[in-house]
Amino acid sequence: MFKTLPGFREFLPEECRRRNFYFSQWRRNSRNYHFQEFDGPVLEPLELYEEKSGAEIREQLFCFTDKGGREVALRPEMTPTLARLVGPRLGALRKPIKWFSIGEQYRYERYQKGRKRAFYQYNADIIGEAGPAAEVELMALLIDSLCSFGLGEKDFAVRLSDRQLWIMYLRGLGIEEAQATSVLGVVDKLGREPEDVLEQKLEPLVGNEAAGLLKKMIAFSRQQSLDGVREMFRDSGIVMDELESRLENWNELLQGLQAMGLSSFVQIDLGIVRGLAYYTGFVFEAFDREKSHRALAGGGRYDNLLGMLSRKEAPAAGFGMGDVVLEDLLKEKGLLPKWVEETDVYVVGITPEERSVVLSAVRALRQVGFSVEYSLTGASPKKQFKGADEAGGRTLVVIGPEEREAGQVKVKDSRTRSEKTVSNKEMIACVHHILRGDPELD
Ligand code: HAM
Repeated sequence: MFKTLPGFREFLPEECRRRNFYFSQWRRNSRNYHFQEFDGPVLEPLELYEEKSGAEIREQLFCFTDKGGREVALRPEMTPTLARLVGPRLGALRKPIKWFSIGEQYRYERYQKGRKRAFYQYNADIIGEAGPAAEVELMALLIDSLCSFGLGEKDFAVRLSDRQLWIMYLRGLGIEEAQATSVLGVVDKLGREPEDVLEQKLEPLVGNEAAGLLKKMIAFSRQQSLDGVREMFRDSGIVMDELESRLENWNELLQGLQAMGLSSFVQIDLGIVRGLAYYTGFVFEAFDREKSHRALAGGGRYDNLLGMLSRKEAPAAGFGMGDVVLEDLLKEKGLLPKWVEETDVYVVGITPEERSVVLSAVRALRQVGFSVEYSLTGASPKKQFKGADEAGGRTLVVIGPEEREAGQVKVKDSRTRSEKTVSNKEMIACVHHILRGDPELD
């Protein structure tokens, strides 16, 4: 029989409830930080991703030629879409632009633990703020979003790094900026691929300097403090003023996070450079403390992307958080809530004659906003009462021949078992009374 395609997921009601839970927390946190929601098309021109996001993302696209002969791709991420949407509207939008989105992304990757071919991603981005204040706001939102699921500083950390520092360091070693992006692609694989493989990747870029360069890169990637960074630069050709000016940005960022009470969530880790080539400055990734999962979220500054995609320059930074690793971690920590889908009211008709009054009561109760269930087939009263039990109905509305003839209904509180016969008109007030948990019906 037909099966869900590899790397895709089906969302039965239980999975849908979980997904809605992530979405509602993400929306709540975004509102908290005053970000506005946006969305874009899931199908985009292939060109939008070519060249801009690095070779890695190009290999991972679901792309094809549509019936109109257009080269198109399912979106693998939101950032290029955001950049192309904001660019032409830049003049009209109030700055800084703080936007978020929640949507499905598609990547043709080898599916494995924490990696799917279709996944949901929460993105939050700030456009129009060049200084580290944007990173403070974004990292705080990222941390608070993870905390809103019950995770704490013992469970995860945000690792902070800086592609500008890396480019400066590589320049000190004689590597020009044009090559630096490719070299950073190798840094991204440190610890994930064997050193001899990485050395081979460096050779076409730097020739027989590869082995020495790799050693220095490994040493730099292990730096976890600004003093360590200074030390690494001491013998390089970089003017110390240039380094100190960049470290001032670091201080501003770290002090901002400290003032927000978030320092304990943040670790300096120059081993992070991110796989996407468009990042230009600070980059960060959130990981579980044990590092037994892939990144929960990642992001950074991308000051050139708007200019590349829309010819309107604007500084920008943001992050994306997926639902897959988040769910794995929440499950492991026992932090997924247990949802009970209970209906507010179950309406029972004792004989087939009550059918139309049952339907009319059901509609009246639904119109005032209650969740209402009843037997679609008008089963036997015994089956209907069983159905009410299974649906978890807190309130029962029972209509038999006597009630029907008198224009009345019997309203029962299924917890206290108290009941009251009321007119059709009084039914809604009586149900309200029970659901509010007011004292027993008399
Ligand atoms: P990314 O690091 O590619 O960044 O993805 C961010 C997060 O999305 C990852 O940390 C992971 O949780 C989730 N994710 C990515 N790929 C998969 C996958 N195949 N299966 C499951 N989850 C996945 C970006 O996408 C950037 N556009 C984020 C950004 C926004 N940067 C600036 N603004």
